[in-house]
Amino acid sequence: MTSPYSVVIAGASSGFGAALAHDLAATGHQVVAGARRPRPDALRMRYVPVDLTDGEATARFAQGATEHLGQVDGLVYCAADPGAVGRAWQLDADTFARVLNVSLLGFVRLAGHLVPHMQQAGGGSIIAVGSQAARTPVDLLAAYGAAKAALEQYARCLAEELSGTGIRVNTLGIAAETELAATHRAAKAALRGRPSPHPPLPAVADSLPLARWLLSTEARHVTGQTLEARRP
Ligand SMILES: NC(=O)c1ccc[n+]([C@@H]2O[C@H](COP(=O)([O-])OP(=O)(O)OC[C@H]3O[C@@H](n4cnc5c(N)ncnc54)[C@H](OP(=O)(O)O)[C@@H]3O)[C@@H](O)[C@H]2O)c1
Repeated sequence: MTSPYSVVIAGASSGFGAALAHDLAATGHQVVAGARRPRPDALRMRYVPVDLTDGEATARFAQGATEHLGQVDGLVYCAADPGAVGRAWQLDADTFARVLNVSLLGFVRLAGHLVPHMQQAGGGSIIAVGSQAARTPVDLLAAYGAAKAALEQYARCLAEELSGTGIRVNTLGIAAETELAATHRAAKAALRGRPSPHPPLPAVADSLPLARWLLSTEARHVTGQTLEARRP
């Protein structure tokens, strides 16, 4: 990947995805960003509303992104459903399916459209935004954690199958005060009947450098890895 580069960011109306999209555009890179809620375009950033659980809408989003960018050097998948907080045995299968549809299948859909473009271009960097909850049981987040575990393993398989093509695939876990973090905290407090005992998470800006690095040529030998941007 050369600099400046062209990046698609999915799940970018708020939180980490929005912050990364604005950061990359502000530092000279071309960005196509999307999520369900509308947001304005910005200099070097085209924003396209898309529901990533809708296969046809995702295909249109991917095609529009490739036409606008010409070449896609990076894909960052940030979308996640914050709504499934509950005891593991009380979350029903429809809830699991909804969470998997956003966290895993949206990424599968986008990769299906964008990997062939990256193959033609001879390389690229793909980041799936994962979570510590993929590997550590987090109380009341069974559906979220199971979906992130599936996403992480899919990303590893993708990395393995794309080795030698110049396309790198990594999973990046973040820890940041965002809408999702606040929704999880409020829902857990309501279920437990007491506020969260944990201190606030770091600012979202603290998670950006690792994403910028994974997208850059400095990380050209890094693939198939899971990294965590967390407060030490
Ligand atoms: N915050 C943390 O501490 C933390 C920790 C570990 C992992 N993560 C991960 O970081 C990523 C970003 O989350 P965040 O913390 O920045 O929370 P956030 O602000 O709630 O961002 C989630 C994004 O996903 C989008 N999204 C949800 N459903 C979608 C759909 N069906 N189609 C398209 N976009 C959809 C949302 O936009 P719309 O609602 O507009 O569609 C939003 O832009 C997520 O993958 C999350 O699991 C966060």
